[in-house]
Amino acid sequence: MAFTFFFRDQQVLERVVEHILPSLAGRSHPRIWDAGAAMGQEPYTLAIVFAERMGYFAFNNLRIDATDVESTGQFAQMIEAALYPKDELSRLPEGILEKYFEPNGKPEHFRVIDRIRRRVVYQRHDLLSFREIGQGYSLVLCKNVLLHFQPLERIAVLRMFHRALAPGGFFATEQTQEMPPELAPLFQRAIPDGQLFRKVEGGACAS
Ligand SMILES: C[S@@+](CC[C@H](N)C(=O)[O-])C[C@H]1O[C@@H](n2cnc3c(N)ncnc32)[C@H](O)[C@@H]1O
Repeated sequence: MAFTFFFRDQQVLERVVEHILPSLAGRSHPRIWDAGAAMGQEPYTLAIVFAERMGYFAFNNLRIDATDVESTGQFAQMIEAALYPKDELSRLPEGILEKYFEPNGKPEHFRVIDRIRRRVVYQRHDLLSFREIGQGYSLVLCKNVLLHFQPLERIAVLRMFHRALAPGGFFATEQTQEMPPELAPLFQRAIPDGQLFRKVEGGACAS
């Protein structure tokens, strides 16, 4: 089972959402790609962070495409069910459990409420296929995944993310992940103290 938990890298996610929100205002149906989403804790956290900061109707037009390479269908089922053990939810920020989770009949478990659940759509996808799941994304989030790849694979995956992003779209990763220098023409650092990058159009790029 992949290691992840709700509100992991909370400050990173809050910083990303705050920074990109103004750029979403002009988009009627903004799309986010959460790559390497594991069992759903991350995309649901991201949806909650957006819900806390967006207007009701704007949030209802947001879509988070959550993908993972897991091949048994177990992650798909878990994300679809959106049912998590109470133990896992003990460290949520204050007020989040009451606002975004509800009991659902299964003892010691809570389910993500429909308003959040409906924003997240899962599909299986292997990043090492180097084929993007679509284009026009406002944000690609890929956290705690790239470190498992070889340097050249990482570069090819980042180039795929560049293709998937809308003009001016953003890419975010964990604090300890560096952008390879070869890709400097494709991504411009968006904030001085975090791993958030803005797509540069048409940048020539060494492979
Ligand atoms: C440590 S978890 C990170 C989960 C979440 N992003 C987080 O930060 O908490 C790494 C995830 O990457 C997924 N993964 C590994 N290789 C992948 C690949 N080639 N394509 C897509 N996902 C992959 C794993 O299945 C796992 O769910």
